[in-house]
Amino acid sequence: MASRLLTNIGELLTNDPTLGDETPVGRLHDAALVLDDERVVWVGAASAAPDADERYDVGGLAVLPGFVDSHTHLIFAGERSDEFEARMAGERYDGGGIARTVAATRAASDEQLRDESGARLAALRAGGVTTLEVKSGYALDVEGESRLVALAREVTSEVTFLGAHVVPQDYVADRDAYVALVAGEMMMRCASAKWADVFCDVGAFDVDEAREVLVAARARGLARRLHANQIADIGAIALAVELDCASVDHCTHVSDVDVERLAASSTVATLLPGAEFCTRSPYPSGRRLLDAGVTVALATDCNPGTSYVTSMSFVIALAVREMGLSVDEAVWAATRGGAGALRRADVGHLSVGARGDLVILNAPRAAHLAYRPGSSLVREVWRCESDDA
Ligand code: NIG
Ligand code: FE
Repeated sequence: MASRLLTNIGELLTNDPTLGDETPVGRLHDAALVLDDERVVWVGAASAAPDADERYDVGGLAVLPGFVDSHTHLIFAGERSDEFEARMAGERYDGGGIARTVAATRAASDEQLRDESGARLAALRAGGVTTLEVKSGYALDVEGESRLVALAREVTSEVTFLGAHVVPQDYVADRDAYVALVAGEMMMRCASAKWADVFCDVGAFDVDEAREVLVAARARGLARRLHANQIADIGAIALAVELDCASVDHCTHVSDVDVERLAASSTVATLLPGAEFCTRSPYPSGRRLLDAGVTVALATDCNPGTSYVTSMSFVIALAVREMGLSVDEAVWAATRGGAGALRRADVGHLSVGARGDLVILNAPRAAHLAYRPGSSLVREVWRCESDDA
């Protein structure tokens, strides 16, 4: 394919700290980029840009890396708006509603799941998501989980097996048998996933159960991530660090010891402010994590229970307003941070050699993402087609 010059960029965030203002977002003004069919091949001042086969003048608008949404439960049937309304009236989230989505998802055909999930995927993409992770976890039986993994693989290479979402109704009297099933036959049938995850929290799985699943995942060559510390602190973060999870997700309740543990580890803390918003829970401080040296990512957690959110811009605005992140930190967390949470070096930045996945905003500065919450500011999304991630 032809090379493309994207020029007259008013503000370009590259997330390459060796470029531009040499901050973590690597900001350039009056900038240009050249892409070949899938990679960034040149980046710098517009006045110094080389020729290319095609020239695209963005007229002073802002350009940033495509968003990396490292935590979604994209594939499910039905909705639970009644639970949202109850929470807004004071009820607490305890994970109990997951069983309702399991029933709806089990009953749905593949086509229905493709249709319902496809609409959410289109919304995420239109909002600038160029890489996304998708979890199973709403079937909780061998056939159903392997079906969800297969459907997720139609959408992305970043697929996570979440058979350990909650203990399904038919196993409540023998949860050990369910954990053994997840760690055994079910995982074997879902081994085309890249990741394994466990909801390790009150009302879901305890640390020993999560360990059994994650150790089995490691033995099968699946990489690991963990839902941790959303409802309470039961010691999930120490387990995640011990088992080299790429990411611990939620981190709503985190002790000082765990902050230090994360800072000394290669585990990313993924914050999901849509979940605090939709469950009316206190927001954790992203500032505290960043100040301690923890790598922070932001993701939508798109799911029907705690965060029916398909907008990374909304997540960024919440993180800035409620979690103490600067706009630059939030944009970085939603791009390079998400890439870190997926252990991907090729996305989340616009250095030479990176995938040419980017967003052109309908605004002169990326700060508008938080400054104008609720507006749709994504004008164009450029995403390489060479890989489905
Ligand atoms: O990330 N916490 C566990 N899983 C989802 C919610 C699932 C649901 O309530 O349907 C989450 O918040
Ligand atoms: Fe989640």
